[in-house]
Amino acid sequence: MNRVLPKANDPCWCGSGRKYKRCHRETEGRIEPGVISPLRTVPEAIARPEYATGQSNGEPQRWREPMVKSPDVLARMRIAGRVAAEVLADTGAAVRPGITTDELDAVCHQACIARGAYPSPLGYRGYPKSVCTSVNEVICHGIPDDRPLSDGDIIDLDVTVFVGGVHGDTNGTFLVGDVDDSSRRLVRVTEECLQLGIAAVRPGQPISDIGRAIDAHAAKHHFGVVRMFVGHGIGEQFHSEPSVPHYFTPAASTVMEPGMTFTIEPMITMGTWRERLWDDGWTAVTADGRRSAQFEHTMVVRGDVAEVLTVRADGRPGWSL
Ligand code: MF3
Ligand code: CO
Ligand code: CO
Repeated sequence: MNRVLPKANDPCWCGSGRKYKRCHRETEGRIEPGVISPLRTVPEAIARPEYATGQSNGEPQRWREPMVKSPDVLARMRIAGRVAAEVLADTGAAVRPGITTDELDAVCHQACIARGAYPSPLGYRGYPKSVCTSVNEVICHGIPDDRPLSDGDIIDLDVTVFVGGVHGDTNGTFLVGDVDDSSRRLVRVTEECLQLGIAAVRPGQPISDIGRAIDAHAAKHHFGVVRMFVGHGIGEQFHSEPSVPHYFTPAASTVMEPGMTFTIEPMITMGTWRERLWDDGWTAVTADGRRSAQFEHTMVVRGDVAEVLTVRADGRPGWSL
């Protein structure tokens, strides 16, 4: 039976007099695993990353890739970044109550192929789909399945494309129909965290400046900063050096240099920053079941500031519809 659950700010059905979100939503109305559809195929003509050639069970090769990219690699990363933002926009435009996350995966998959790009998640370490769809308390790496989106959900779409031999990685959180005020605030503050992280990028300064800026803004709003997942170097490899924590740690001592490319992708929570992993080995959820939001850009350090690579031709990110 499918009961209709109250809205977040409505009184709880149990008669406690508390808001639903402070009462029974803590234990019910959580996201549950659904049915994952068969693998989608990519035309032979589209070049694949090495981990998706069927020779290593999806385990990526690791090689020493310079953190500072050549002008040639950077030119290709600008293109991959633009394609990633366009694919995110196409996929985000399909978000509405009733659509399943598997249908969103189909939109992302086709949008990649239409642009001659390979969807980087597909086959990466055995990941079975072309995009990550992370709903409500799912922090990241949610696998598209047959669950339809409900009015009031929030969903992060994390798109990575491989085109021209390099990856572009971007994600954003979208509102599904009529979303409660505190969730909207979470989403707004998370995007602000990304922007403040980007504003902290400056050659000659340590990477730890980024997490310091993000941590301070989240703390001001009494939100949590997820620690288990971090930003990363990116280029010919999907994930490489440096690691970019979104909380402050002096261990992030790599000094930013012009030409360095990496992502910033804060995951911000309404409660605890601690996560649990589902049995599928991918889906990370908040330990307390409260909501999490995320935004991500790929960027290059320039002589003075960061240049964001994951923007569309008109300069807008993929989540601005
Ligand atoms: N796009 C994610 C990131 O931002 C990585 C997803 S890994 C996958 O780093 F296998 F789930 F796709
Ligand atoms: Co990333
Ligand atoms: Co990503």
